[in-house]
Amino acid sequence: MDKAQTLIAANRGPISFRTAEDGSLEHRRGGGGLVSGMMSVATEVDSIWVCAALSDADRRAAAEAPGSRLDRTHDLGGMRVHMLDIPEETFSGAYTGVANSTLWFLQHLLYDTPNKPAFGSRFRRLWEDYAAYNNAFAEALVSGAAEGARVAVQDYHLALVPRILRARRPDLRIAHFSHTPWAPPEYLRMLPDRVARELLEGMLGADRLGFHSPRWADAFLRCCEELLGADVDHTRRTVEHGGRVVGVGVHALGADEEDLRGSAAEPAVAERRETLSDLVGDTKLIVRVDRTELSKNIVRGFESYRELLTLHPEWRGRVTHLAFAYPSRGDVAEYREYTETVRRLAEEINEEFATPEWTPLVLEVNDDYPRSLASFQLADVLLVNPIRDGMNLVAKEAPLLSERDAVLVLSREAGAADELGEDALLVNPFDTVETAEALDRALSMPSEERRGRRKRLAEAAVALPPRRWFQEQIRSLS
Ligand code: G6P
Repeated sequence: MDKAQTLIAANRGPISFRTAEDGSLEHRRGGGGLVSGMMSVATEVDSIWVCAALSDADRRAAAEAPGSRLDRTHDLGGMRVHMLDIPEETFSGAYTGVANSTLWFLQHLLYDTPNKPAFGSRFRRLWEDYAAYNNAFAEALVSGAAEGARVAVQDYHLALVPRILRARRPDLRIAHFSHTPWAPPEYLRMLPDRVARELLEGMLGADRLGFHSPRWADAFLRCCEELLGADVDHTRRTVEHGGRVVGVGVHALGADEEDLRGSAAEPAVAERRETLSDLVGDTKLIVRVDRTELSKNIVRGFESYRELLTLHPEWRGRVTHLAFAYPSRGDVAEYREYTETVRRLAEEINEEFATPEWTPLVLEVNDDYPRSLASFQLADVLLVNPIRDGMNLVAKEAPLLSERDAVLVLSREAGAADELGEDALLVNPFDTVETAEALDRALSMPSEERRGRRKRLAEAAVALPPRRWFQEQIRSLS
């Protein structure tokens, strides 16, 4: 890799701050593939991560960092982080109003279209916030990036940044990566025409665009063709628009085995493992671990479990479903309602089937990473059934830690299904009977078959570890 400066631009940073009891600022490293990918190159090249301040403590840290502009960074073991203090109203319009309540819904096909969306004047104002938020990132990069630097822009929050950068700093080499799926043109075209155009043209300001799955890359190409009238080569995956040719690549992020095993070896995991073992007793264990996002399909997952207990009563008293549904985006009303539905349905299922000796479904909503890892170790079946998902790393991480050769029941609509489809039991996430039958098959699978599948899943899960995933994208800019 050449030594050019490398910048990441992402809404969420690799760290977050909080105010300690004595009033000082503490920071915590976040998880995820992007963080470990970037950390692994941070010591080799000059790199800065530009992100938004997401809390009051982050804002304080942003104000206290030494220096000015992009040299105003927090230095964390070779990784420099620059937090942008974006006015709260602008941030909320961009993040909650556009990124989470509009673009997320579009890319995951979540709209209940007879009722929503309606793109009125309010949405036009939110879109202005989104543009201002993207401009704030672009401004920091325009004024602070070194000559010839590489900029890796992340996700749907920052779709407009590549185009602004290209216009103002043609020396920069720009990549944009989408961690979500991409919607088909007939769905994306619900957006007002001008907005859809700005979104696509914003991204096409990059030299390279990346997606986790060929399905998302191809959907993006079709959108460019149909909504922009761009000249698309579907075989080479290129888009010609505005006199430039942009390449679209597929880079399927894999699990970080070393990091995961390191975390799983912590005493907290062994502790949680023991508690979970006691809880589950000698019943078989079906596990799911998600953030409570509308796209994760937790409600149909529970309905499928109910179908299992109804269609196959022989499992009553012999299986426990452990569901970890961690809080997410509580500032979006639909998420709050969904969380409530998840909670209610879990109660209903327990009321219907529980006996004095047996609790069929255990729902935990407080985020506990060591406990999630312990559940991967103990699971007999892992249920990952999203409506749609860019990748889904839980599907890749669990087989690495599984001690009981867990069978993976996986939605065919997750990006991860591309690589894991042969050894998982693939399901249509809308079909709760098919999912219930897959759970039954998984619970009944002979041990030799489980072992073979688990081993191959674990191999496929690490085909492109975060470090190489990140390097591939950076190299493609050279
Ligand atoms: C998921 C998606 C990412 C996205 C992130 C944002 O993890 O896979 O594409 O960037 O959510 O989550 P947040 O909590 O920051 O809204």
